[in-house]
Order: sequence, then structure tokens, then C-alpha cells
Amino acid sequence: MKTKILVTGSNGQLGNELRLLSAHLNHLSFVFTDVTELDITQPEAVNEIMESLQPQYLINCAAYTAVDKAESEKESAWKINAIAPEILANSARKTGTCLIHISSDYVFDGQNYRPYLPSHPTHPLSWYGKSKEGGEIAIMRSRVNAFIIRTAWLYSSFGSNFVKTIRRNALQKQNLDVVSDQVGSPTWAADLAEMILHVIIHRIEPEGVEILHYTNEGVCSWYDFAISIVEHSDISCTIHPISSEQYPLPAPRPFYSVLDKTNTRQRLNIEIPHWNASLKKCIQLLNE
Ligand SMILES: NC(=O)c1ccc[n+]([C@@H]2O[C@H](COP(=O)([O-])OP(=O)(O)OC[C@H]3O[C@@H](n4cnc5c(N)ncnc54)[C@H](OP(=O)(O)O)[C@@H]3O)[C@@H](O)[C@H]2O)c1
Repeated sequence: MKTKILVTGSNGQLGNELRLLSAHLNHLSFVFTDVTELDITQPEAVNEIMESLQPQYLINCAAYTAVDKAESEKESAWKINAIAPEILANSARKTGTCLIHISSDYVFDGQNYRPYLPSHPTHPLSWYGKSKEGGEIAIMRSRVNAFIIRTAWLYSSFGSNFVKTIRRNALQKQNLDVVSDQVGSPTWAADLAEMILHVIIHRIEPEGVEILHYTNEGVCSWYDFAISIVEHSDISCTIHPISSEQYPLPAPRPFYSVLDKTNTRQRLNIEIPHWNASLKKCIQLLNE
């Protein structure tokens, strides 16, 4: 019998990348849902689909991802990012389903000076980060079998993201100011989708709740990232470095957002592409 996989939030960046890859995986049976088919904040709806489908895996790509808006829409962000994961985890525990949940580098405060280990204490700066931390805590308490995958700086040819914003603005302006004092690892959602499918295909089982870190390799600032975006896109625009203070936003960002992936590489036996190589591939797709 085919392995059954239920995906939530599948109209987002990661969900779309999973859908694209799933077309080549005939030995797996996917059910893709977004909020209109399955609202993950509704326990009855979640239990109903889980009981009827009895999937082996539940991949939760659904989230409230508007980081700045979350500061003024605290209740919505909390409901989707902290309460809904608990609903999914409780349901998955009952059906014996392995939950694969996506979390964020924003659970850390960015005060570290070396890459964050999965075991490092969390200390979010923003409400979005706090709500993602809430989701992690709920899953850990639920005693479900789960992988919590923390990622960062996600972009894709689907949806809206930093790569698309820089390309659009660089086509309209000759100069752009971009923050240079926040560093992290840009991550192509297609690579993250491949990593998730690797876990499923190779039947890598979590021991209780396991936290894995996954971003592309390498480290850069938003400024470096923007320079590579315009270069790969062959757009003539000068990028100028500015400080976070010169670009105030409602939600505070961590200055240092690098995740340690040593355990992920060893546990899954994978090589992770460098951010600049993956960016190039994504931009080729956008140019087509
Ligand atoms: N984007 C980043 O830079 C980043 C960084 C670190 C971690 N992450 C995490 O990575 C995961 C995937 O992110 P992404 O960028 O792919 O997110 P995304 O593009 O914003 O997609 C999220 C999807 O979830 C849907 N959704 C919202 N509320 C829902 C609900 N109640 N029930 C079902 N679906 C719902 C959204 O629909 P609507 O669009 O209609 O709301 C959207 O289609 C998330 O857990 C996110 O927190 C993202």
C-alpha cells in the first residue's frame, strides 16, 4: 500500500514546492490542503480528515507568516502558529501519524556568536517568534512522534518573498538600501521540500519529538543576499548597506540567525546546497 501524506497550508511557498516534487513520486500518495479545504485551527475538521485518511505523515506547512503584522494581530498569529500545532499533534498521536512541523530561526534572540544548536534555549524577540515557539512547546508536550524542522529566510519561485521584492524594486530603481547588520542563511523552499521528502522516502523515524535545523549552507547579510539577487538576475542596480536602525520595522529581528545543521547532516546523511547555488537555480526558474 502507498504511504499516505497529508499536507496543510499547501498554497504557500513550501507547500507548492512539495506539490511540484510529489509529481515524480508515484509510490507516495499525497493529499494537499489549504485553509479552504482544511483550516488547521478547527479541531473537528482536523480530526475528521485524519481519521478518514489515516495518513502515515502529516506535513504542516500552514502558518501565520506575516512577521510585522503579527505584532498587531497577536490573536490570529497565536491561533495558527501555537494553538493549531497542538490540535494537529493531538490528532496525529491518536492516528499514529508522524508529524513534520516547520518552525523558525525567529525562536532565537540572535544574541549568539556561533550557529544555534537545536538544544539552545529559545528566546524570541517578536510575537511571530513567540507564536512559533508556542507551537514547538505544544508539540513537545503532546507526546506525538514528530520532527520539528526549524528553517530561516525562506524563498521560492512561488508566493511573495525577499527575492521577488528585490528583483521588482531593482527593476524600478537604480539604487536600493538593504540592511547589512543582520546575518543568516537564505533557504530555497525547494531544497527544504526535498529534505522533508528524504525523511519520508528513507523512513527516518523521530525518537519522540526531534528538532532538526535546515537552511541552505553558508551565511550572509540581507545586503549580500540582495547583491546576489540582482547579479544572478542580470539587473543593473546598486545596493547600499544600511543598519537595522535606519530601517525600523514593527517586529524586532534577530541580528544573528544562523542555525547549526551538523546533526541534520549526520542524522539524514545528506549534503546541503550552498545558498548562492540554490539562489541561482531559483532565479533561472523565475527568468524562464
Ligand atoms: N517565510 C520565511 O521566511 C520563513 C522563515 C522561517 C520559517 N518559516 C516557516 O516555514 C513554514 C512555511 O512557510 P511559507 O513561507 O511556505 O509560508 P506561506 O507561504 O505563508 O504559506 C503558509 C500557508 O498557510 C496557509 N494558512 C494560513 N492559515 C491557515 C489555516 N488556519 N489553515 C490552513 N492553512 C492556513 C496560508 O494561507 P493564506 O496565504 O491564505 O493565509 C498559506 O497558504 C511556516 O511554518 C513558516 O513559519 C518561514
